Amino acid sequence: MKNLLIHNGRLIDPASGIDGQFDIAVAGGKIAWIGDNQPPAGDYEVIDAAGQVVAPGFIDLHTHLRQPGFENKETIATGTRAAARGGFTTVCAMPNTSPAVDNRTVVDYVNCVAFGEAAVRVLQIGCVSKGRKGESLAEFGEMAAAGVIGFSDDGSSVPTSRLLKQAMEYAAGLGLPIIEHCEDASLADGGQVNEGIVATRLGLAGIPNAAEDAIVARDIALAKLTGARLHLCHISTRGAVDLIRQAKSDGVKVTAEVTPHHLTLTEELCLGYDTNAKVNPPLRTQTDIDALIEGLLDGAIDAIATDHAPHTANDKCCEFALAPFGISGLETALGSLLRLVHCGKLPLPLIIEKLTAAPARIIGKKHGVTGSLGVGDPADIVIFDPDAEWTVDPGKFASRGRNTPLAGERLKGKVTATICRGNTVYREGN
Ligand code: DOR
Ligand code: ZN
Repeated sequence: MKNLLIHNGRLIDPASGIDGQFDIAVAGGKIAWIGDNQPPAGDYEVIDAAGQVVAPGFIDLHTHLRQPGFENKETIATGTRAAARGGFTTVCAMPNTSPAVDNRTVVDYVNCVAFGEAAVRVLQIGCVSKGRKGESLAEFGEMAAAGVIGFSDDGSSVPTSRLLKQAMEYAAGLGLPIIEHCEDASLADGGQVNEGIVATRLGLAGIPNAAEDAIVARDIALAKLTGARLHLCHISTRGAVDLIRQAKSDGVKVTAEVTPHHLTLTEELCLGYDTNAKVNPPLRTQTDIDALIEGLLDGAIDAIATDHAPHTANDKCCEFALAPFGISGLETALGSLLRLVHCGKLPLPLIIEKLTAAPARIIGKKHGVTGSLGVGDPADIVIFDPDAEWTVDPGKFASRGRNTPLAGERLKGKVTATICRGNTVYREGN
């Protein structure tokens, strides 16, 4: 591993309140020095970051790596290479694999593959219920001992309040959050897109905002009752943002994430029956987007996570109602989010905070992920050109999932290098 000197960039590290012209030296996989004068003596590979932003490596709280079981959609190797290209140095893998990650053996298996093949750090989320069936609790204690950062049946909500209460009591004892996909199954059943005018025009069943709001309200009530930590995935509705804001002011231990696609795309994208725009929760309306942005600004929404959900072309090449939900999101996250910066809706440092310090706080300290560039921190760094324009070409994705509704779109903002634990895991042009 070479020592690195990242020179001439605009350093933005929200955790330490830095936004300015500083150089960084990396040695032994750690941040060794930050300054604007002579670095400590040493033999450095110099990266010229003039005109670019240098920030802590992004942390994705919500990534589907699909291994074991769905290696045709993605593998730990391809998914983490996609992460590196997107500027992410840590991904939290969701457990809806086959077998599902509901016991220690599967956690160990994923860790083992990741150790040999992952380009970036892989943390794991274990299932809430055995086999994600929503019937009985998975092996919380042994999965916690194997290092999971929380528990989720993502893809569906925990179906009964009783099981969720029990899950929260165990999770609270282990100091870990319940990470919930918020969707009332009976309201969403058969739904393909957001319930409203677009669903009507397409002749498809809709998923109402209330499907999300109802579960958010239930989960908050149970978090209040049990004192457990609750993290809410991919929030997509105005109503949910209001409920979370209120719960926070009531002292409930709730955090929430939003995806780049729910922040930038509306339901109209489904009007051409593009199955690549079919995602769960569905793309909603501009009113919802405005509330999500407000939530990021006032802290109701803590973090941005991709919900990277790769599927094969075959999976998606079918009638809209038969296609699986999901967008391959790691490689377009930054460019999508910077649309909000370039049009003046969100400040760049806030977006970086939501991709670094905020998810690090949710994960907690014990995995060595700080989401910051403090001296002594692991050297997880992203370098990106906020003004570089490029055209989304899914054929060039490192991910096996080319399922994006952004194919052919121009995005402004491009990762040029990603460094994970001091290793350069992505460099533009390489
Ligand atoms: O769109 C989605 N795809 N939403 C989810 O909750 C699950 C995910 C998947 O696993 O494909
Ligand atoms: Zn989900």
